[in-house]
Amino acid sequence: MNSTLRLAAAISLASLLPLSASAAESKGSVEVVHWWTSGGEKAAVDVLKAQVEKDGFTWKDGAVAGGGGATAMTVLKSRAVAGNPPGVAQIKGPDIQEWASTGLLDTEVLKDVAKEEKWDALLDKKISDTVKYDGDYVAVPVNIHRINWLWINPEVFKKAGIDKAPTTLDEFYAAADKLRAAGFIPLAHGGQPWQDSTVFESVVLAVMGPEGYKKAMVDLDEKALTGPEMVKALTELKKVATYMDADGKGQDWNLEAAKVINGKAGMQIMGDWAKSEWTLANKTAGKDYQCVPFPGTDKAFLYNIDSLVVFKQKDKGTAAGQQDIARKVLGEDFQKVFSINKGSIPVRNDMLADMGKYGFDACAQTSAKDFLADAKTGGLQPSMAHNMATTLAVQGAFFDVVTNYINDPKADPADAAKKLSAAVKAAK
Ligand code: BGC
Repeated sequence: MNSTLRLAAAISLASLLPLSASAAESKGSVEVVHWWTSGGEKAAVDVLKAQVEKDGFTWKDGAVAGGGGATAMTVLKSRAVAGNPPGVAQIKGPDIQEWASTGLLDTEVLKDVAKEEKWDALLDKKISDTVKYDGDYVAVPVNIHRINWLWINPEVFKKAGIDKAPTTLDEFYAAADKLRAAGFIPLAHGGQPWQDSTVFESVVLAVMGPEGYKKAMVDLDEKALTGPEMVKALTELKKVATYMDADGKGQDWNLEAAKVINGKAGMQIMGDWAKSEWTLANKTAGKDYQCVPFPGTDKAFLYNIDSLVVFKQKDKGTAAGQQDIARKVLGEDFQKVFSINKGSIPVRNDMLADMGKYGFDACAQTSAKDFLADAKTGGLQPSMAHNMATTLAVQGAFFDVVTNYINDPKADPADAAKKLSAAVKAAK
């Protein structure tokens, strides 16, 4: 074959092969907007991406950095206004209903998947109600996180002469004093509003108990928001804040988690996505680190359920990809591998009741056991800081007052409680 013929043959082969191969490879493309961007979170979301790509779909990653998701929500809103929402997005709690009421979410696309995969039987009603709008699924729930955790580096505790994890606020302060005296940062904490409120709601739970928490943070009852128990909770919050990392202003949660992992700090108050960073660093629960309920909250569980909503799309070809993501997300394999990487527990009832079977560690087993037990006693309450209890507007009111209070050296707890109630009232 002369060189011209060889080139012609190569071109005709090339024109057949790659094009037909790539056309056959992608069954459609779906963009997924989420805020899982720390190292550990990325490892978890990559599990879903790999499974969806294996099924032949193209995953367009719409990651928006920023713990707690406030930035992702701003991006989503502007995209929705511009008429260009992604196929799938991470949205949670009562906000799902607000989005659905705009007519932008798809109430049809998940119907068959939900029926075929028997979602109603797999999920607790409390969870399925959150992701349904007028009886139709508009989102798939991904996992359950617990907020009221305290993460401890036992090696650091030992060096500071502390022999056990604190179970009361007084023990917490005593441990924090010893950590400081031994030259450690007592409490790793990034001073971003959502992190401040993550600590605030754990303290409210400890001081007011689950019933008081519910009255103040879920029912938004004025008396509960201004009463003596809230004043006490704010007083304790101010004390907890005195132990926070002095270099933590504006810091991301995962960089603060790294300080506990690397032995610079002794403790962190954070939801169990913090575990994803420990896992990524090859650390083992119960050995290299301890997870204990935030002092005084062992009989309560502030829950946070991640979910992925489906937006209506102009391109009808996106539906198959949206359905594939939803099917994968509630599959047994994904539920196990994602939560092991993410630090959460599955949303499926059958898996929650049999965690040992799936190789979950001690933290996850405790979490599942407490989730089921606390659901029977009223101890199970939705997290305000993680969009499960209120609308984003009310959450914003809490965030402003709490962060200002923590940062104002002259702030008075009774006055802050009044401000809280007024801000919440205005945002309702
Ligand atoms: C989300 C978690 C996420 C965390 C930190 C929470 O609101 O539910 O999935 O890991 O924020 O970004």
